[in-house]
Amino acid sequence: MDSIGWVGRELGALEEASLLRSPAIIDSMSGPEVSIEGRRLILACSNNYLGLAGDERVIEAARSAASRFGAGSGASPLVSGLTRAQRDLEERLAAFKGTEDCVIFSSGYLANIGVIQALAGPDDAVFSDELNHASIIDGCRLSRATPVIYRHADMEHLDSLLSEGGFRRSLVVTDSVFSMDGDVAPLTELVEIARRHGAMTVVDEAHATGVLGPAGGGAVEALGLTGQVDAVVGTMSKALGSAGGFVAGTSDLAAWLRNRARSQIFDTAPVPAAIGAASAAIEVIASEPVRRERIAELRALLTEGLRDLGYRVGESESAIIPVFVGESDEAMRLSARIRQSGVFAPAIRPPSVPVGTARIRLTVMATHSDMQIAQVLDAFAAARGDGSAP
Ligand SMILES: Cc1ncc(COP(=O)(O)O)c(C=O)c1O
Repeated sequence: MDSIGWVGRELGALEEASLLRSPAIIDSMSGPEVSIEGRRLILACSNNYLGLAGDERVIEAARSAASRFGAGSGASPLVSGLTRAQRDLEERLAAFKGTEDCVIFSSGYLANIGVIQALAGPDDAVFSDELNHASIIDGCRLSRATPVIYRHADMEHLDSLLSEGGFRRSLVVTDSVFSMDGDVAPLTELVEIARRHGAMTVVDEAHATGVLGPAGGGAVEALGLTGQVDAVVGTMSKALGSAGGFVAGTSDLAAWLRNRARSQIFDTAPVPAAIGAASAAIEVIASEPVRRERIAELRALLTEGLRDLGYRVGESESAIIPVFVGESDEAMRLSARIRQSGVFAPAIRPPSVPVGTARIRLTVMATHSDMQIAQVLDAFAAARGDGSAP
């Protein structure tokens, strides 16, 4: 009997609905341009916002951490310990986020599922923005707390849902910069509302860390909320150009996570090279604010240019610029068309975004040149010209 034949049939159905996905294979470093299938393309979709994944200082720090501590870390921290480099980075990240302590996970995904599962259980409720990242949704599921979904960035809705009460403890969780839209959550109101209701707050700064805030600390820092969020989640995989996630908060929170966050306890610590790279990236972020300024400059250039061409572009405050298309097949056609013109940015389709809101998710990198952004605009102009764009 063909017990797994259903998988092939399901894949066929996905393809039929323009929802089949597969990654492109990259033959070069992930910089402002990449090599795919023998062609150089402008990379207009990476989360390597500051270009640090390819920065020689960051790469050298990765090499030297691997030479000193080895290629792998051997086991989870509670089994075979943390490297000195990882502990130093935890302290450095805590200082960067203005908190007492910080715990590193192997990825931002694991940080989110770990912190939510550690802070909420079956008698509790997790209040979550409808556009939160999948790792937050999965954390809610894993916690077995009651999920309560509020409308995107709608603080009145959140307030009224919290008012209903009925749970042992409540936790409010949000992306700070929304990963597929680039807008920033109304954190000032959110923190005030949560405090009024005695609810804990978890803010995921995956796309804000290194990009927003006077010192690159994120949206929490930008809005003057440092020290007012119970758990600040971050990732080293985006602006820090490395890999790994973290949760920053009080010393008690850190100790609790080391004892209760299953995705940290039962997971091998990140490789030393990733830790070394992230440490060097934090230094670059502190010493080169010009990279953050460049992102703001390029965002304005690209957003205005796309709007002038007649595209529907989201209100972004970050490095993420969504170009809304609608249906999945139309988004795929537009993505293929800009690729012909030398620009790589895949179509983002459900379930990554709500049905009917397929889009091209563009991102700017501090290392993009003005010329490269002009080429991205030319590619979108060509798509408009030949009817490939909706
Ligand atoms: C908002 C958000 N949180 C968490 C993550 C997960 O981080 P990581 O890629 O480090 O697992 C991502 C993206 O990957 C994200 O967009």
